[in-house]
Amino acid sequence: MHFRALATRCSNKIPTNTTQTKTMNSKFPVEKFKDIRTPFYYYDTELLRQTLQSIKEEAGKHEGFVVHYAIKANANPKVLRVIREAGLGADCVSGGEIEASLKSGFPASKIVFAGVGKSDWEINLGLDNDIFCFNVESMPELKVINELAAAKGKTAHVAFRLNPNVGAHTHANITTGLAENKFGIAMRDMMSVIEQAQEMEHIQVVGLHFHIGSQILDMGDFQALCNRINELQDELERNRIILEHINVGGGLGVDYQHPNRVPIPDFKSYFDTFAKRLKLRSGQTLHFELGRSVVAQCGSLLTRTLYIKEGATKRFCIVDAGFTDLIRPALYQAYHKIENISSDESAEAYDVVGPICESTDVFAKQIDLNRCHRGDLIAIRSAGAYGEIMASGYNCRKLPQGYTSDEMI
Ligand code: LLP
Repeated sequence: MHFRALATRCSNKIPTNTTQTKTMNSKFPVEKFKDIRTPFYYYDTELLRQTLQSIKEEAGKHEGFVVHYAIKANANPKVLRVIREAGLGADCVSGGEIEASLKSGFPASKIVFAGVGKSDWEINLGLDNDIFCFNVESMPELKVINELAAAKGKTAHVAFRLNPNVGAHTHANITTGLAENKFGIAMRDMMSVIEQAQEMEHIQVVGLHFHIGSQILDMGDFQALCNRINELQDELERNRIILEHINVGGGLGVDYQHPNRVPIPDFKSYFDTFAKRLKLRSGQTLHFELGRSVVAQCGSLLTRTLYIKEGATKRFCIVDAGFTDLIRPALYQAYHKIENISSDESAEAYDVVGPICESTDVFAKQIDLNRCHRGDLIAIRSAGAYGEIMASGYNCRKLPQGYTSDEMI
């Protein structure tokens, strides 16, 4: 287990956020939010640290397990700093993410770089910083990496991303490991790709990489991945090839329905599944690229009620956040628990909608919220992953800012 600088300030108790000023269904420091312009993201860094502690404990039980954080889930520098302090590596998918990781202090020796379309400057950035590994997704890409490494007189360490053709029980837009997806190299090409790579002077093949999808809660999907990897490793062994690393990507899901009851994902079952099912060869390390499960539950999008509108058939709660701030409901029909944290009046049914000129700008339909009034603060929960980072400036809207609980003390 490669955790160098472990967070020491973690406590084991479930977070309570005792700074709340009113008794509402959720516990936020509402008083401290008073003067902050909405919408904004709020990150509970105590929960984030506890989550990281759980990852550290559960992965640490298994020899050779190495955890990277998938920067794509949330690259807010304040969040990255806490994750880097816990000793995780970084999984990047662009030059911008490599720059963000380095700026936040992730060592280059713990950076993996994936993506189907790496451009030359991004590959050069990885080479210049001697990153740990390029996760290569095609033969043409490998040739370019070899050429660019040759020009610098360097050797690039690469892992091949294989498409394992393993389905995941998740939303169709976030499954990646099926043969029809654009990701990875087909399994049947594995041997020939490795053989060609071994002929390349500036390439060193160090591993295999996989990622089957995101928001996966069924451990059976990960078991299927393990079975596939075992078959591939047997085939490699028959050809006398043993690679140093296996990287199984990310994908562990979170409980969007119950952010209070299940604030920390079941890392034990997750890591135990791989420990039990995956046959690592002696000395091999097993790498993980966790994104959502690290940061989703610690983040909420805070927005204010602008107007309550009585429609022909329903009541709308119009808030000042839109899909430019959190696109998951519009893009994946994703559920996020929503709470009115300013009101303890009895619940009423609302459609919670944003101000953007598109009919998909809806956060939830017909949900119960404590009776809403203009100015009430609404918390959209479990928004720490793929929230702030996917924000856009459509309608010339301002990007939401992110604040941490550390700043609110
Ligand atoms: N590794 C690779 C190669 C990936 O493509 C991804 C996510 C991860 C790791 C991290 O997966 P996680 O542990 O977060 O599931 N925007 C979507 C999710 C897209 C995931 C893309 N790849 C959403 O909001 O649900």
